[in-house]
Amino acid sequence: MKTATERRELLKGLYAEVRDCTRCPLHHTRTQAVFGAGNADAELMFIGEAPGASEDRMGLPFVGAAGKLLDRLLEEIGLNRKDVWIGNVLRCRPPDNRDPQPREIAACQDYLFEQVRLIEPVVICTLGNFSTKLLRADTTGISRLHGREEVRVIGFRAVRLYPLYHPAAALYTPSMLETLRTDFQRIPELLAQGPPEQPQLEEDELPDLDELEFEDSEQSDGVTSGDRPEPAPQLGLF
Ligand code: URA
Repeated sequence: MKTATERRELLKGLYAEVRDCTRCPLHHTRTQAVFGAGNADAELMFIGEAPGASEDRMGLPFVGAAGKLLDRLLEEIGLNRKDVWIGNVLRCRPPDNRDPQPREIAACQDYLFEQVRLIEPVVICTLGNFSTKLLRADTTGISRLHGREEVRVIGFRAVRLYPLYHPAAALYTPSMLETLRTDFQRIPELLAQGPPEQPQLEEDELPDLDELEFEDSEQSDGVTSGDRPEPAPQLGLF
């Protein structure tokens, strides 16, 4: 088990990599990458779809109307953003808020899996279709899956995966909002169950932390991530 400080330091290294990412064409149109934010030691993670215009501008996930609803739902179960981690399938805004494309998802997914590995959550709530399909590696849609938890191995970590409707969809459909609210009420119970049994990995299957690319990696301009100033807004939240 890593300490909260170790997790935070490793996340900062990963953040330095994401900030300069050019793995897909979205880097041409983004204002900034949105890494994700919250508690590096969180037991609960929420994974949405992709940054929108407000997120792209502010560098933080879920800061628009859907984010306000997420805040309200968290408050109703006695939690707030400082208790959880909030991220997305994509770290860069698709132009005109179009759907993420398969090659963008493929290019970005390792960052998400790495966040899961570093944070070691107990429960991951996928918000909407894109994160649900990605983390279940399956095309079943959210309307069939919402509110049904299951144990899934994400990267090297077994978690309680709990698909929920996306707050942006629930904003304009009162019946969906009620369902989302009802599903949300079960989150404390899932957290109380604690982590599921972890997969037993052989020695040679375990990732070697020293070999992870993001640790003080050499950037394309020859500057190491350790030399770069920390842009304040995103790091302030973890
Ligand atoms: N804001 C995000 O950060 N992600 C979404 O999926 C929607 C809004």
